[in-house]
Amino acid sequence: MPSVPHTFDTVPQVWPHRHLLDLERLTPGEIRLLLDAAAQLKEATAGCRRKLTILSGRTIVNLFFENSTRTRTSFSLAARRLGADVVEFSASGSSLSKGESFIDTAKNLEAMGIDVVVVRHSTPGTPHLLAQHLDVGVINAGDGAHEHPTQGLLDIFSIRERLGDISGATVGLVGDIAHSRTARSNVWGLLKLGAKVIVCGPPTLVSKRWEELGVEVSHNLDEIVPRCDVLNLLRIQFERQNTRPFPSVREYAHLYAMTGERLKRARKDLLSRAPGPINRGVEVSDDVADCPQSLILDQVTNGLAVRMATLWLTCGNRLPETDQTGPAQPGLPAEKTL
Ligand code: NCD
Repeated sequence: MPSVPHTFDTVPQVWPHRHLLDLERLTPGEIRLLLDAAAQLKEATAGCRRKLTILSGRTIVNLFFENSTRTRTSFSLAARRLGADVVEFSASGSSLSKGESFIDTAKNLEAMGIDVVVVRHSTPGTPHLLAQHLDVGVINAGDGAHEHPTQGLLDIFSIRERLGDISGATVGLVGDIAHSRTARSNVWGLLKLGAKVIVCGPPTLVSKRWEELGVEVSHNLDEIVPRCDVLNLLRIQFERQNTRPFPSVREYAHLYAMTGERLKRARKDLLSRAPGPINRGVEVSDDVADCPQSLILDQVTNGLAVRMATLWLTCGNRLPETDQTGPAQPGLPAEKTL
C-alpha cells in the first residue's frame, strides 16, 4: 500500500471508499492507510493545532441524533483544521418535529451542496441507509450499539503511537460489551491488525458468542489484567439496556472497575484507556484514570487526527459508484446477533 502524499492533494487511488460506515469491511491495508494519514496530518498540523487548507471549499454537516461531547466537537474541529465549512444540525429545532422524514431531511441538506454527512443515531444501520439515499459521503459517528469506526480507529491509533505496532499486543476490552459500538469497532480493527483481543465483563454483558469473531471471552478481570498490554475500559451503557444486567453498580465496580489495587498486578507498562465519557468509581477509579499510563486525554487529541484523515479521504474521493451501502448485518441490531 503506497504511503500518503505529504501534500495531501490527492487521495491515494487505493482508498476505494466513499463512506466510512464501519471497520468490519475495511481491509488491514486500508486501516493502516487511514492511520498513516492520521499520523501525517497530526504532524502537519503541529499536533492537531495548526490549520491547513486541504479541504477548503468543502462543507461538512454534523447530523447528530444522540448526545455527544467529544465526537461532535472533534469532527467540527477536524473539519475546520482542514479549512472546510461546518454546519451543525440540531434535530430538536428542525422540521423533523413537523413530521418530515429522516431521509427527506438529509436530502434537503444534500441539495444545499454539502460534501459529507457525519451521522450519529440510536438505530443501528442508519448511516448505511443514508449512504443508499444520498450522493455525498457518509461517516458513521456511532449507530446504536453497532459500530463507531472513528472511535475504534482513534483507540488503535493511540496504542500504535505508544507501542509502535499493534500486531501481537494483547488488548482487553472491559465492561458493557453487549451494548458498546466502541467494542465492536475495536474488535474488528484490532483483529485485522493482528492483536489478541479479550472481551471481559459479567456474563449478562459479555456473551460466549463473541468467540465466533475470534476473541477470547472472560468474566474475570483479575485473571486477565496481568496478561494485557492495553486495557480499554468501557462505560456501562445504561441508556441502551432494557433490563438491569447486575444487582448494583457497587457490585459491578467491585468485580470490574480498574483500580489502583488491580493496577499493581498489571504489567509495569500497561496502557489504560477509555473512550469517554468516563464514570469515575464505576469502570475506572481516579488513580487509574489519572495515572501516567492513562491514554484517556491522548485519545481525545488523536480523535482529531483520525477524523481529519477520515474527512480528507472521504471528501477527496468522488468515485461515482457506492461501494458499501448495505448494513453489514442487514436489519439486525448488533446486540441481537452476538
Ligand atoms: C462512546 C459512544 O458514544 O459510543 N463515546 C464517544 O464516542 N466518545 C462511548 C460511550 O458513550 O460510552
